[in-house]
Amino acid sequence: MTNKYYSVKPVLDTKLRQVFIETYGCQMNVNDSEVVLAILQQSGYSLCNSIKEADLILINTCSIRDNAETRIWGRLDIFRLEKLRRKGIIVGILGCMAERLKDELLKHPAVDIVAGPDSYRELPSLLNDLTGGSKQINTMLSHEETYADISPVRMDKNGVSSFISIMRGCNNMCSYCVVPYVRGAERSRDPNSIVREAQDLFESGYREVTLLGQNVDSFHWADPDNPTNTVNFAQLLEMVALIDPKLRVRFSTSHPKDMGHAVLYTMAMYQNICNHIHLPVQSGSDAMLEKMNRKYTRAEYLDRVAMIHKILPECSISTDIIAGFSGETAADHEDTLSIMREVGYYTAFMFQYSERPNTKAARHYPDDIAPEVKNERLNEIIKLQNELSLASNIADLGKVVEVLVEGYSKRSKEELVGRTSQNKVCIFPAGEHKVGDYVMVKVETCSSATLKGTEVK
Ligand code: SAH
Ligand code: SF4
Ligand code: F3S
Repeated sequence: MTNKYYSVKPVLDTKLRQVFIETYGCQMNVNDSEVVLAILQQSGYSLCNSIKEADLILINTCSIRDNAETRIWGRLDIFRLEKLRRKGIIVGILGCMAERLKDELLKHPAVDIVAGPDSYRELPSLLNDLTGGSKQINTMLSHEETYADISPVRMDKNGVSSFISIMRGCNNMCSYCVVPYVRGAERSRDPNSIVREAQDLFESGYREVTLLGQNVDSFHWADPDNPTNTVNFAQLLEMVALIDPKLRVRFSTSHPKDMGHAVLYTMAMYQNICNHIHLPVQSGSDAMLEKMNRKYTRAEYLDRVAMIHKILPECSISTDIIAGFSGETAADHEDTLSIMREVGYYTAFMFQYSERPNTKAARHYPDDIAPEVKNERLNEIIKLQNELSLASNIADLGKVVEVLVEGYSKRSKEELVGRTSQNKVCIFPAGEHKVGDYVMVKVETCSSATLKGTEVK
């Protein structure tokens, strides 16, 4: 937004109406909350740090698993108490759960406003219309909305790394997943607005951007004035990488069925595109992958991994895994453990399958793995991943890595913490360095979660 309220960081002013924003779910939601703050700043709100100071409490929600939603119902009960204590405050529910549950949420005594992921521009008018006393809801999904013209107001703590949404929605219909229902159809954002946003961040001192989409490899933009002029994900990556060699570029999430050679060659060409790919496998069993509608086989997934290693020998790979999907046998579970070993993920997000209402899986495949079995399998997966993470870190001992400093270590102000190109956390003695610096560090010790070392000059 190019007006006097434009700013990368929140404008804090206690004389204005105060908004508190609480965010759950994925990085997309983090970025959406920043878009929401930009919109609200335009209509005279200022960010505050606690519900106790807020005139407006917003909760940006996630529906991906049942426990994500349970947590949010619990928060609404707390907000209700705050409303009883302080008359006149407003509570709005945003995000994926707003989209999924609509009126059911509006009935909660704490809730005044329900706004889905594509309705954030309407927030000021929903707030306005509240003055009539009736609750307000807008959960229309859009085929076009990308918030391309809105510069998110960054709420991160470090001022070094930030998220940029490059697309919204998802067309993939993995059978277990609620995202296509709550986020709508996939649409890509104008690449020029993406580059402008990354450039602004760089000029404000940021040194890393993560390009976000549910399936970045299917990014596709056609110029409305000249539809033969198109941009794909590899081209977009290059456009962002060219902003400045000192701006690190990351992206998430890659879909194994769509990730092609061009992206890998582009990564190889630009040293500032980080050597890390998040490549969710979900399961190592062909039967499960088929039922999940992931559209790749175990062998095809492993081919992608081999291609990554060939083109980018230094690239780290992380993943997402679901334990206990419908009909998963002990042998299917073993297949997941074996693919984990075969790939040697440096880290993973690991979940028990949670049936989501109205998805294809909920309609056709029974949620038939007992909770104890899901739990046991998940624990085995986590235990194995800890071993793999440790092995991956041990392999880095003695190497010199480039660390982008994000802050001070939790234990000591004498130590800085940052990440390597491979996305590994690395701690080292601060010396003269500060947040935002690039430092070459020799790795000397490690745990499964962190590398530790000292600067090499
Ligand atoms: N678009 C990304 C993932 C988005 S959701 C992709 O396709 O990889 C993030 C992760 O949550 C998924 O990768 C999956 O591992 C997990 N997840 C999604 N739905 C789930 C469900 N119903 N139960 C458990 N985990 C789920
Ligand atoms: Fe969900 Fe699959 Fe889309 Fe990822 S690709 S958001 S798992 S439907
Ligand atoms: Fe993200 Fe959760 Fe929505 S993972 S897209 S916030 S359902």
